[in-house]
Amino acid sequence: MKKFIIGTIVTVLLLTIAIGVQQGLLFAKPLPYDDEQKGLDTQITIHLSHVVAENTPKGQAASKFAELVEEKTNGEVKVHVYPNSSLFNDENEFQALQDGQVEMIIPTFSKMTSYIPNWQVLDLPYLFNTDDEVQEVLTGSIGEQLLKELKPFHIKGLGFWHNGFKHLTSVDHPIHTFEDLKGLRVRTMPSIALEKQFEVVGATPIPTPFSEVFTDLESNTIDAQENTASNIYSKGFYKVQKHMTLTKHGILGYTVLMNEKFWKSLPLKIQKQIMEAMKETTDWQFEQAVEINKEDLQKLEQQNNFEIYTMSNKERQRFKEKLAPVYDFYRNNVQNNDVLSEIEKIVSP
Ligand code: SIN
Repeated sequence: MKKFIIGTIVTVLLLTIAIGVQQGLLFAKPLPYDDEQKGLDTQITIHLSHVVAENTPKGQAASKFAELVEEKTNGEVKVHVYPNSSLFNDENEFQALQDGQVEMIIPTFSKMTSYIPNWQVLDLPYLFNTDDEVQEVLTGSIGEQLLKELKPFHIKGLGFWHNGFKHLTSVDHPIHTFEDLKGLRVRTMPSIALEKQFEVVGATPIPTPFSEVFTDLESNTIDAQENTASNIYSKGFYKVQKHMTLTKHGILGYTVLMNEKFWKSLPLKIQKQIMEAMKETTDWQFEQAVEINKEDLQKLEQQNNFEIYTMSNKERQRFKEKLAPVYDFYRNNVQNNDVLSEIEKIVSP
């Protein structure tokens, strides 16, 4: 009888331990970190939409920013990046930001000029000579002053990023001189200063969203376009254009924007960490942009059926002089245009 009682107790004990282990009640390990689970209580999500490929100055900076925000906030903020117009394109991203359908976008400043005409100053041809000048202007007090113009749109401007200098590509003939642009249909970003730039040389500017440029070039509804080496390479424009002319006639850059209501809803500590991530990304981004454009230009040089010319200094000077009316147009049509003289104090003539 004694043996039976001891046997029963031992069996019950063993069964209890086995069930406990199976249910994870005994020897339970801490659960691995789980994004979804954290999201249920404190995690903040930022959806960041942009229109270019991931291996570009903007694409890489967006990923770096996401990484730094997550690191600095200890996983409390997660940034989901949507590249290649996969969420919104040039035409609807600003509205989506204002409506709160997305928390962040990074449009080119050119695409913001229909809201803030003064930003056309950054589109003026041959205003900048070097990437360093661009950095000094966009990350200094002039950049800050320009960002203040977002106020009426209830948008928080976090800063400016760079891509690089724009060049021209064309399909039928190379652009050796500005006269070669005459009669061409040239795709531009929507900015009156950019459109004027092509009108002045007798071309027809055709503003279209970035996501449509490849198809328009392929179907010959446009003959030429202006862009940086990184955008030309990453979007494969060299497959549907035959010539590229290194003109360095203008810059392409970005403004990093956040929905203001969302920004204000964030705890001060998080706002500070986001701004730290932004500052760190921006410093890294300006160097990275120069490198990526250099590498992508080398890759373009290796493409078959794609010829690259460098516009001579003499021709660049003629082009610059020919484009002087774009400056007159800017001065005569844009209010608060003193920012141009501020920039002219920084750049070499
Ligand atoms: C971009 O870099 O965001 C697009 C530029 C373009 O529209 O040409």
